[in-house]
Amino acid sequence: MEGRSSNIICSLIIAFLFLSFRSSYSHSSSSELQILTAERRIDLASHIIRVVLTLKVQNDGASAASNVLLAFPPAQVKHLALIQAAEHTGKKRKKTVHPLDVKPSDHADGPNGAKFFSVSLRNPLSTGASVSIEVSYILTQSLEPFPVEISQSEPQLVLYRDSALILSPYTIKQQTTVIRTPSTKVESFTRVEPSSQLRTELKYGPYEDQPSYAYTPILLHFENNNPFAVVEELVREIEISHWGNLQVTEHYTLVHNGARHKGGFSRVEYQSRPTISGVSSFKHLVAKLPPRVHSVYYRDNIGNISTSHLRTSYSKSELEIEPRYPLLGGWKATFVIGYGLPLQDVLFESDDGKRYLNFSFGCPIAETVVNKIINKVILPEGSKNPHAVVPFSVERSAETKYTYLDIVGRPVVVLEKENIVPEHNSLFQVYYDFHPMFMLAEPMMLISVFFFLFVAALAYIHMDISIRK
Ligand SMILES: *[C@@H]1O[C@H](CO)[C@@H](O)[C@H](O)[C@H]1NC(C)=O
Ligand SMILES: *[C@@H]1O[C@H](CO)[C@@H](O)[C@H](O)[C@H]1NC(C)=O
Repeated sequence: MEGRSSNIICSLIIAFLFLSFRSSYSHSSSSELQILTAERRIDLASHIIRVVLTLKVQNDGASAASNVLLAFPPAQVKHLALIQAAEHTGKKRKKTVHPLDVKPSDHADGPNGAKFFSVSLRNPLSTGASVSIEVSYILTQSLEPFPVEISQSEPQLVLYRDSALILSPYTIKQQTTVIRTPSTKVESFTRVEPSSQLRTELKYGPYEDQPSYAYTPILLHFENNNPFAVVEELVREIEISHWGNLQVTEHYTLVHNGARHKGGFSRVEYQSRPTISGVSSFKHLVAKLPPRVHSVYYRDNIGNISTSHLRTSYSKSELEIEPRYPLLGGWKATFVIGYGLPLQDVLFESDDGKRYLNFSFGCPIAETVVNKIINKVILPEGSKNPHAVVPFSVERSAETKYTYLDIVGRPVVVLEKENIVPEHNSLFQVYYDFHPMFMLAEPMMLISVFFFLFVAALAYIHMDISIRK
């Protein structure tokens, strides 16, 4: 009797193992998907490259598919700042967009080191069904100045490398790629027939029936005089004072990351012929700040710079900053921007009685790449259990800051991230517990200090300290 039941259990286990092995096998085999149509639009108008990929994916396999893989050459993955995907349902007029989850895939690398990202579909794609997804991604530092050095009177030319065919682990029935350049000044581009140039657009394709992992390198050489504004490091100190103010101090190390400037610099020529002299340089930058900023300042290591202009309106404030000298290729400027905000605009109370800061994460300067950002949120003394909610992955750590009158110090939440683009300027929250009694700590300390001084003074007056025999 016992022998029989254990036999049954054994065969059940074997059947279960077999089934789970089969299902994991069918999950990992992805070649049963096919891309019916693919359209890629690459925007090279700025130094931040934005790509939109529209795919119509069909499941030709025998089982339902829950993920779609995206492949990238290893050189692009290094410069990938952001990747997002969405599913599109409905026809043109009544289109609805459902955001989808995209994660780096733990799939082994593909041919030539191709790296994968996995898009999770909303509903498993059944056999024979198809789905339209739109993937958008952003590449930084992928335009290579060529020539590497230019003089003040030369325009800036850059190289861009990619593939005429879309890299994919699936076969693609029909595809086209459209590349937008900043102007019609294109020195050269690799031709892969059919390919054409129409004003500021280069069109590659349509190409039919391409096998998986098809790749045809292309090289574009074109003029791009946009300011290649890169902040090597941005440290933002965001200090909450429960006395009603949020103080923000931002420390910048800004560099012009385009073609290096060579030869002398003539300010006279720069000012008298601005359309041809130093065309790729930048004289001023615009920082978008929250609407009700006050006490705005902008200084470098010499002192306050008064040539900044602040325009405030109901919905936003714009600070136009002008470094002491125009930035040419390879030149650097370090400066600090500071401002205050009314606390009620950014600090709220959650349903469970916690307080939380709701503030922007990224760099407020337009079209700027930040190599490394460090956001430090300095909480009031006595705050407990700080916890940050950020819409993307960041490196988290904690510090304690002491200012005058602090006894136990202020908890500091440190959030670091590399390769930041303007699209990262979303809101993040820092939740914490705070007992209102701590509001009284500083006044109490002041009162006790004065009281002590008062007692000391009294004692001094009443004390006889003359030396007598
Ligand atoms: C710079 O400007 C700020 C704000 O206007 C002011 O508080 C500070 O004293 C100024 N510093 C110098 C060195 O002028
Ligand atoms: C943060 O503020 C934005 C608007 O400024 C608001 O839409 C959002 O809901 C706030 N987030 C939280 C968690 O309160």
